[in-house]
Amino acid sequence: MNRLPLLFIALLASFAAAWLGLVFGLYRELGGVQPVSDPFTSELQPRPYTELELAGRDVYRAEGCIACHTQHVRGGRFNADIERGWGPRRSHPIDYIHDRPILMGRSRTGPDLVNIGAREARRSWHHLHLYDPRITSPGSNMPTYRYLYRKQRIGDEPDPDALMLAGEHAPPPGYEVVPTDRARALVAYLLGLDRTYPIPGTPRR
Ligand code: HEC
Repeated sequence: MNRLPLLFIALLASFAAAWLGLVFGLYRELGGVQPVSDPFTSELQPRPYTELELAGRDVYRAEGCIACHTQHVRGGRFNADIERGWGPRRSHPIDYIHDRPILMGRSRTGPDLVNIGAREARRSWHHLHLYDPRITSPGSNMPTYRYLYRKQRIGDEPDPDALMLAGEHAPPPGYEVVPTDRARALVAYLLGLDRTYPIPGTPRR
């Protein structure tokens, strides 16, 4: 008797079962994740991005920051992400519910940024660092993003976001270096990156 059709059906069924298990299993596990309520403020976390942060996220994507930075605190016994101070807990699917696409990244030439807003909350620091990473972080090999800033004549009042540049970087007298709209949006996005809220039932690592 020719058993070939039977073999074919059995193979097809096992592939279909594996595929369905993968799709529906993941869907059951992750499809219904909801924001968590902060026990102190009752705010929902993560909060949705603001318009400005979303614009900054587009700049982050366009400038290729993902080539060197992940947004994912890894857990597990053999991982030092938490010791490095990149976050108080490992990342969880809930952290990404407002992200389309998710900018998790996989290359880590620089530190993980998923909690950079909690780690470095000074706007002026971020602007200086983007203008020239060597100013804030001597020896850094991150590229400069000087083209996101422009030099202008100081008007009646100096711009409150003008960069505090000294020495070789200082603009000529009467001028100031200010962030462009793209730089302002990018820094708003970075300052908003904070997934340090606790998620009940999540192991610390
Ligand atoms: C070629 C790799 C590379 C690229 C591209 C890159 N970075 Fe970095 N980044 C680094 C390295 C290396 C460091 C660590 C040294 C430093 O602080 O400058 C760093 C550090 C940082 C830090 C400080 C992190 C901390 O924990 O102190 C921030 C914020 C940051 N980068 C943002 C960005 C943004 C935003 C972009 C895109 C506009 C970007 N980086 C593109 C390599 C890169």
